[in-house]
Amino acid sequence: MPGDAVLTLEAARALLQTHAKDAPWLRHCEAVARVAAALAAAVGARRPVDGGFVERAALLHDLGRCRSHDPVLHGVEGYRLLSGLGHPREARACLAHLLFAFDPAAHPDLGFRGDEHLPRSPEEALVPLADFLVEGERPTTLDARFASLRSRYAEDGEFVRRLGRSEAWTRELVRSLAPAFAESPETIARQALPDGVG
Ligand SMILES: [Fe+2]
Repeated sequence: MPGDAVLTLEAARALLQTHAKDAPWLRHCEAVARVAAALAAAVGARRPVDGGFVERAALLHDLGRCRSHDPVLHGVEGYRLLSGLGHPREARACLAHLLFAFDPAAHPDLGFRGDEHLPRSPEEALVPLADFLVEGERPTTLDARFASLRSRYAEDGEFVRRLGRSEAWTRELVRSLAPAFAESPETIARQALPDGVG
């Protein structure tokens, strides 16, 4: 319902369930949420992080897949859907997780310019990092995930070019967070998903 509702984790789960039904991407969202929560806990040991928001946003980052599986439009659709439901923070996280795949100039109606849609807080930044550490519902490495995305979208030169910028951004994020992590993000992801999400 439109409004300024504060989303609880339970409400986010219910929203995901309603829109995903039993689609396979629901389990991807659950896996990313688990990794994102673990990353937030690791960072949170050293500096204040809203771990609840990170987990909710990660759970909902792919909500737009109920409308599109396009590598860009699913984030745009998630943004529209959650904005319409009165959840602007989680809506922004859907758009932000696209990183450089999203071109604000191609979607002027959304009102973003330049890099305004990029993650602007550690909380928003941890969602795409967690997403890149999960392939389907399994933990992976950044090397393997970027290689897999490059091969999946090999025909789409513009997407691959933008993916290069997203990879550089992600590697820089990991470098900047390194002092906060006792273990590598890959290790944190593996520990968060020892047996997948089953
Ligand atoms: Fe996504």
